[in-house]
Amino acid sequence: MAGVVVGSSNARIGIQAAIDILRDGGNALDAAVAAIKLIEDSLEDNSVGTGGIPNLIGQVELDASIMHGKNLASGAVGAVKQYPNPIEIARKVMDVTPHVMLAGEGAELFAKHHGFKPAELLTDDAREMWRKRIEEGGPSQQRIEEDRYELFNQAVADWAKMLHKEIYGTTNVIVRDDSGDIVTAVSTSGWGFKWPGRLGDSPIIGAGNYADNRFGGAACTGRGEMAIRSATAHSVIMYMRHGKSLGDAVHEAMQDLSHLQDPYAERSNTMNIVAMDRNGNVTAASTSESATYVVQTTDMDAYEERTRTHVPLT
Ligand code: GLY
Repeated sequence: MAGVVVGSSNARIGIQAAIDILRDGGNALDAAVAAIKLIEDSLEDNSVGTGGIPNLIGQVELDASIMHGKNLASGAVGAVKQYPNPIEIARKVMDVTPHVMLAGEGAELFAKHHGFKPAELLTDDAREMWRKRIEEGGPSQQRIEEDRYELFNQAVADWAKMLHKEIYGTTNVIVRDDSGDIVTAVSTSGWGFKWPGRLGDSPIIGAGNYADNRFGGAACTGRGEMAIRSATAHSVIMYMRHGKSLGDAVHEAMQDLSHLQDPYAERSNTMNIVAMDRNGNVTAASTSESATYVVQTTDMDAYEERTRTHVPLT
């Protein structure tokens, strides 16, 4: 099968770069990182990289992870501030450390040490969205500056009301190259107005990201807490490992989420999965009707946007 890339709908921004690399004989790892990097740099999407919606106190914190299906090598970073391309830092963690995940200041120190360049991630648009939200329902800017501890105490009660179901976007791609290697890559600025330091599923291997050449790859977008609790990306792979078809494996992993007891479920239960089997066949599912994903192979001139299978959580 020709090289193939599948991803969340915003992966359209980077998919051609991945295909170009595969056409030139490049590998799945380079292709996945190139695609995600373009999405992180794009201001078109405010759920990833530069332009991402900030946390409760107005800071953009980024999470990303990458996994190589050949040897299950993985790298991840969480709650990284000031570095625009967490996917590259995650790859570096995978390549040069004995660790899988670095977070916060330690991840930033690592990025600096390896020559990554800091940049302002908060755009005027994202700052304005944050300011409006804070004014509507949250603590005032003055309080944020005056007493951060008091802010945390107060805000924890109201914070969940500030979360909005439409602002936990993320991007992901799964790439399979000609040699059969499958790489999954995920990047996000996380849930808009999230608690500082909150990590979703995107940097958690097994939750938002999993790849194993023997079976396939899966990646999630949506409310990360659900994918963490159910190990959703890994579940897709496990269901395939135990004989389910790609479509059935994704369906089953989605259904697992309906068993979660959750007081926040009604306002915020959104989950999306993109998945690929070991042969490069792809599918995607969503709890939302009409959600889409993108796919392109090296013999296609352009990406195709397809509708995800709708799997409501009952
Ligand atoms: N899926 C992204 C997040 O929950 O942060």
